[in-house]
Amino acid sequence: MKKVGVVGCGLMGAGIAEVCIKSGHSTVVREVDAAALERGLARLDASMNRAVSKGKLTEAERDAARARLEGTTEVSALADCDVIIEAIVENREAKASLWKEIARVAKPGALLATNTSSIPLSSLAPHTGNPARFIGLHFMNPVPVMKLVEIVQGIESSEEAIAEGKAFVEGLGKTTILAKDTPGFVINVLLVPYLCDAVRLLEAGVASKEDIDKGMQLGCGMPMGPITLLDFVGLDTTLAIADVLYGEFGDPKYAAPPLLRRMVESGFMGKKCGRGFYDYRGGQK
Ligand code: CAA
Ligand code: NAD
Repeated sequence: MKKVGVVGCGLMGAGIAEVCIKSGHSTVVREVDAAALERGLARLDASMNRAVSKGKLTEAERDAARARLEGTTEVSALADCDVIIEAIVENREAKASLWKEIARVAKPGALLATNTSSIPLSSLAPHTGNPARFIGLHFMNPVPVMKLVEIVQGIESSEEAIAEGKAFVEGLGKTTILAKDTPGFVINVLLVPYLCDAVRLLEAGVASKEDIDKGMQLGCGMPMGPITLLDFVGLDTTLAIADVLYGEFGDPKYAAPPLLRRMVESGFMGKKCGRGFYDYRGGQK
């Protein structure tokens, strides 16, 4: 078993920490402050309790897993971790600055991973202090349910680090695909233009959000429609990904629709904050 450090306890960090502790790894999760940490741990607890209520986990297994988790606001708590997975906001400057802090404390042999959705690893690698040990482990949302982890090989990521990352996430019960270090890798180069096109249809008044969703669910077998999926992923995260893709490729198919940007500017981040294209404040969509 490895000691795992997860940095960020938002939608993704909480899910990554959950699958790590359920697989037997001692895990420390770091947030920016006590309030953010409390919110993140409450999200993790709610997910584990749902698993118990669905009979997927016993109460004893939940409690044993939870005892493997430590929450912290200190980067220094990552010092004895064998694997460090960064899952903070999709912002290049924030990630670069955090990796500089991690580089000061991480032990020399640690496997260093980012859960970025779109940012090229090579722009973060110089800040990690050990580019050969730095890889992408791109988990999918919701982490406890989705089977895939997209592994990303940066220009300097070593074959050994890629093999270690693969073995680690397979040990969490995940299946992997391998992608080279191009913005958005495989999944988001395909997914984000689709999500942006759904907003463009809405913006142009072609159909209601309900009909766009129903169309893709019942017509194409998608588990959720694209507008619901935008709320689920986070409008801020989707906008950040679209901005990275458009900034890197300059192709209009990646350009964020104005409505998406206006929603984020107005504080509609999606399900995680209670309102996005749909309203979740009553506890339901
Ligand atoms: N955390 C943990 N478990 C969850 C969960 C969550 N947030 N949401 C749902 N589940 C579990 C439920 O407990 C349930 O488990 P059982 O089948 O064992 O009972 C199972 O998932 C199905 O849930 P529901 O019956 O409540 O609802 P559903 O059938 O609509 O499934 C879903 C929910 C799995 C989220 C499904 O709608 C789905 O697959 N949606 C698409 C998700 C997707 O596309 N994810 C990728 C996003 S892109 C990405 O992640 C990359 C990026 O960089 C942006
Ligand atoms: P989120 O907004 O839910 O959570 C981000 C968390 O990072 C917040 O709780 C914030 O307080 C914390 N944070 C910010 N700076 C930090 C720092 N320096 N140290 C510790 N914590 C810090 O975002 P998310 O959806 O969990 O996304 C996190 C990462 O995962 C992003 O890179 C995103 O692109 C990627 N990702 C997101 C999804 C998705 O569907 N939302 C899927 C795959 C990958």
